[in-house]
Amino acid sequence: DWTPASFVDETVAALKEKIGDKHVIMALSGGVDSTVAATLISRAIGDRLHGIFVDNGVLRKDEFENVLATYDTLGLNVQGIDAKKIFYEELAGESDPEKKRKIIGKLFIDVFHEEALKIKEASFLGQGTIYPDVIESVSVHGPSVTIKSHHNVGGLPDIMNLELVEPLRYLFKDEVRKVGLELGIPKEMILRHPFPGPGLAIRILGDITKEKVKLLQEADYHYIRALKDYGLYDQVWQAGAILLPVKSVGVMGDERTYEYTLALRAVTSVDGMTADWAHLPYDFLAYVSNEIINNVKGINRVVYDISSKPPATIEWE
Ligand code: XMP
Repeated sequence: DWTPASFVDETVAALKEKIGDKHVIMALSGGVDSTVAATLISRAIGDRLHGIFVDNGVLRKDEFENVLATYDTLGLNVQGIDAKKIFYEELAGESDPEKKRKIIGKLFIDVFHEEALKIKEASFLGQGTIYPDVIESVSVHGPSVTIKSHHNVGGLPDIMNLELVEPLRYLFKDEVRKVGLELGIPKEMILRHPFPGPGLAIRILGDITKEKVKLLQEADYHYIRALKDYGLYDQVWQAGAILLPVKSVGVMGDERTYEYTLALRAVTSVDGMTADWAHLPYDFLAYVSNEIINNVKGINRVVYDISSKPPATIEWE
């Protein structure tokens, strides 16, 4: 019978056997799958796993620091690469959603490749691929298949002559979560919402600037914190804030304001293929709207997205 404990034992033994005394490089994203996969590999080979976590400038507020700290607690050998500057440079002036994805996907591979080349002893590439990634001919990510391949670092194993190590290849998401808890990974990490590879770049409609990223990071922070405070975070499948390229008139004290509009999105879903907008309580929406408008300078209007998928998608881009 499948149990998380027996899976961990068997997988760690199999990884030891397969990898021997060789080294593995792996891109980590801060997400559930890559964290669980890396922890299994590290149980087998320790610091011969070389993890790389890239700050692409469009992560959530404090995400880079927080995730690196979690990796540290887990004893993972992970290097954080601050590549914000080059991502902002390449994204500057780009408003087209698919082009944003392409820029981010390509840069990610470039940055990862450059770092990976420094780890000369590596002969394996670790990946957090799970069973739905393997069987789905149509990605749940719709138009983002190219990024999926970026996340799975398609192409790199060939360029670098690496063999793949995918310890979660036959697991479903709920099994991955059970294995993660069995490995002692903090619950907060295991129960995280999905977050897209292109990050906040596809939640800033229109062109991306450092200032807009900062604004959205702040607003998103208040939103997610409020969901947790109200005990709603675990009841929705995914939530996020979207910065709209729309300014509108408001009033603050006796001053007229002309600032950005923020859309809040929260959905319930099983696998992201279809989704319903989450019927968040009015008192929560009232609270979060106040929190954001009072605390985030630059946003004077908050709206809630009541569209389901289909026909809307979860992300706005
Ligand atoms: P949509 O917007 O297509 O999103 O309904 C379905 C799920 O996929 C995520 N998503 C992405 N994930 N790269 C990713 O890694 C992408 O380009 C991308 N686009 C959407 C989205 O967050 C949701 O969980």
